[in-house]
Amino acid sequence: MLDIKVTKTATPKEKPQGPLGFGKIFTDHMFVMNYTEGMGWHDPRVVPFSDISLSPACVVFHYGQEMFEGMKAYKGADGETYLFRPEKNAQRANESNKRLCIPEIPEDIFVEAVKAVVKVDEDWIPTAEGTSLYIRPFVIATDAFLGVAPSKTYLFMVILSPSGAYYSEGLAPVGIWIEDDYVRAVKGGMGYAKTGGNYACSLAAQVKAHDAGFSQVLWLDGVERRYIEEVGAMNIFFKIDGKVVTPMLNGSILPGVTRNSVLQLLREWGIPAEERRISVDELLEAQKNGKLEEVFGTGTAAVISPVGKLRYKDDVMTIGDGGIGPVSQKIYDTITGIQTGKLADPFGWRVTI
Ligand code: COI
Repeated sequence: MLDIKVTKTATPKEKPQGPLGFGKIFTDHMFVMNYTEGMGWHDPRVVPFSDISLSPACVVFHYGQEMFEGMKAYKGADGETYLFRPEKNAQRANESNKRLCIPEIPEDIFVEAVKAVVKVDEDWIPTAEGTSLYIRPFVIATDAFLGVAPSKTYLFMVILSPSGAYYSEGLAPVGIWIEDDYVRAVKGGMGYAKTGGNYACSLAAQVKAHDAGFSQVLWLDGVERRYIEEVGAMNIFFKIDGKVVTPMLNGSILPGVTRNSVLQLLREWGIPAEERRISVDELLEAQKNGKLEEVFGTGTAAVISPVGKLRYKDDVMTIGDGGIGPVSQKIYDTITGIQTGKLADPFGWRVTI
């Protein structure tokens, strides 16, 4: 058991009334823990949410030594507070930490930290359909030093944001731009890690896609620029001729917790689900032959996000009839039903705080 010191705010904020958007509003508290070489992780605490003061020379500002995670808490109709597979985020955080030379955080401590701060701010969990308390755990390198070397001090923090849908489209299909110029990651790089650099790297293509009227960028592999990777804020699935396919984990894409859960559900339902290489030519061909039946993204923030339009160079592939497909809808209903306690949890994914 971690000895977490809790200091509550003397000035609680007003809870939001109107639409939440995503990641714009923050709760009253945050979790903080320090790392110092020779001491390990120490001084775990829940404190009032506030700005923090750091040296402008901190390693994180110059060389991006950081990792982050994304999780959600839900309030069930029974009044319980639930997390969804938090141990998977704790494991993945350490995969990212190892890649970034950040000291690992014992998995039970990671989960305890998340539970502690969510418990304190549990009355911030929104309950309207499609909303949740988004949880952002992250570690930053805090040595004030301009040489390129792993920091010897770090901060692990967890902040909370009551949020609605990640995309303004909600469950309406989004348009996605298949990027044929910039690349996101290559094998041997850090594409599988959740770290700011991967997202900074995506911004130029995202601006280009937005300017052309698309919501997000779908990345191709960094070598041949033929094989589908991921969307950046989500993993991607295609239903082609009755089978569901998603790019296999190849070292350059993120091993999504929602991705893993969707594969388990599909297999449970007897819907063929393959993890393999998928070329953009295969998609174009499937669409031409009327076999590209559904496309959807999966992610903690995005949950299940139907894709209605995919652009690749001069081709624009239209998918479905402008609504969410039946398999995507069933997955959305099941995942969110399990997360919020409305459905039974045969896989033991829900964790009560
Ligand atoms: C998440 O789905 O939690 C993520 O971290 C994606 C993020 C870029 C919003």
